[in-house]
Amino acid sequence: MSDEPTPVVLLLHGPNLNLLGEREPEIYGSATLADHVATATEAAAAHGLALEHLQSNAESDLVDAIHRARGRCVAIIVNPGALTHYAWSLHDALGAYDGVVIELHLSNPNGREPWRHTSVVAPVATGTIAGLGGHGYALAVEAVARLLSTGRT
Ligand code: DQA
Repeated sequence: MSDEPTPVVLLLHGPNLNLLGEREPEIYGSATLADHVATATEAAAAHGLALEHLQSNAESDLVDAIHRARGRCVAIIVNPGALTHYAWSLHDALGAYDGVVIELHLSNPNGREPWRHTSVVAPVATGTIAGLGGHGYALAVEAVARLLSTGRT
């Protein structure tokens, strides 16, 4: 057994994602937020990672969570909801974070309304996963594990 502490991945969800399962299921599917968090938690455990989760409808809560992750979490997986498209405070907070950042969306924003085509998070993300529904959570954790094992952040 190693004495090394289990690396922590922070999973963040922005506004309205607490309504998953009820909200526009034709776009976002029928799985709830708890279902997606369970998927990510299982995938993390399979890779020897611990997962922490926060959902908030308030931009400032997400900024504070990103600040608290600095020097503590090895990666952030973030589905910022509509904040993706205009929240420069998230851009700046993630820009000041030095671990892996995966931007995650259930739908494919680029195939939807034009205002969803801009992501202010993408420029400070290591990579983006979009349009693959709930499977994206396992893929995001897998990407984190791969990036950590290759030393790439
Ligand atoms: C979303 C896409 C955003 O455009 C939207 O505002 C959301 C969810 C997604 O997961 O597909 O709230 O981030």
